[in-house]
Amino acid sequence: MGRDLSKVALITGASRGLGREIALRLAERVGRVAVHYFQHRALACQVAAKIEKLGVESRVFRADLSSPAAGTNLVGRVEKAWGRVDILVNNFGPFLVKPLEKTIAEDWLNLYQTNVVIALEMIKAVLPGMRQRKWGRIINLGFHRAGQMTPFPQVLPYAAAKTALLLLTKTVASTEAKHGITVNMVSPGLIEGGELPFEPGEAATSKLLGKPEDVAAAVSFLASEEAKALTGVNLIVAGTWKM
Ligand SMILES: NC(=O)c1ccc[n+]([C@@H]2O[C@H](COP(=O)([O-])OP(=O)(O)OC[C@H]3O[C@@H](n4cnc5c(N)ncnc54)[C@H](OP(=O)(O)O)[C@@H]3O)[C@@H](O)[C@H]2O)c1
Repeated sequence: MGRDLSKVALITGASRGLGREIALRLAERVGRVAVHYFQHRALACQVAAKIEKLGVESRVFRADLSSPAAGTNLVGRVEKAWGRVDILVNNFGPFLVKPLEKTIAEDWLNLYQTNVVIALEMIKAVLPGMRQRKWGRIINLGFHRAGQMTPFPQVLPYAAAKTALLLLTKTVASTEAKHGITVNMVSPGLIEGGELPFEPGEAATSKLLGKPEDVAAAVSFLASEEAKALTGVNLIVAGTWKM
């Protein structure tokens, strides 16, 4: 696996969960890793320290990504510190389990804002630099059923937001290919060790579930030079869950 020390990776929501695993894995590819966090600075610093041990520079960047301007601002701060963002991972993306009849307008707006609009603003902010350097990797985190036109009685705003993110992914992939920029989605299913909104039960435990490192490996591959011909792709990392 080749590491390009000139390159910078920015991962949102990297203080814990899948984002943490992705940040650690991408440290094998680049020279500088921006670890974004919101409330858990100590955890983010632990991730950065672990990355530094690999001989890769790492800094933590705080941002509350609940307003679109915060995404633009975050990219601006990373670019100010290191001059560039070559790999952007839009990992932050809140989940909500709520029966449809209890879903309120605010739920829709929040999930759309945090899963789609922030990603769009972050993408718009990194594109000028990526176009100039004729190289970029943008990876958005989806969910394994994004894009399915089926009922989602418990998670409709989330499923709709991730489906919109998939459309955004494919759209930007189509417009940016000519600039050497790929845009893809990695869609986790039920991830082992993750927080579940319900008891997984026999059905889940008998299936092959994805692990955080499997999600990170998929992101790392899409961020590589070897994946230059893959764009607009949705890589589902869900084992045999819901298959
Ligand atoms: N985990 C799964 O099983 C699973 C399954 C399917 C899809 N996904 C998708 O995969 C991605 C990662 O999921 P995840 O469960 O690991 O993480 P997550 O819960 O979406 O994100 C946790 C991260 O988001 C940050 N965060 C929380 N609120 C924030 C805010 N207002 N502004 C900015 N950052 C904020 C947290 O920072 P602090 O802790 O520092 O506050 C933390 O680093 C998401 O897009 C999710 O939808 C996950």
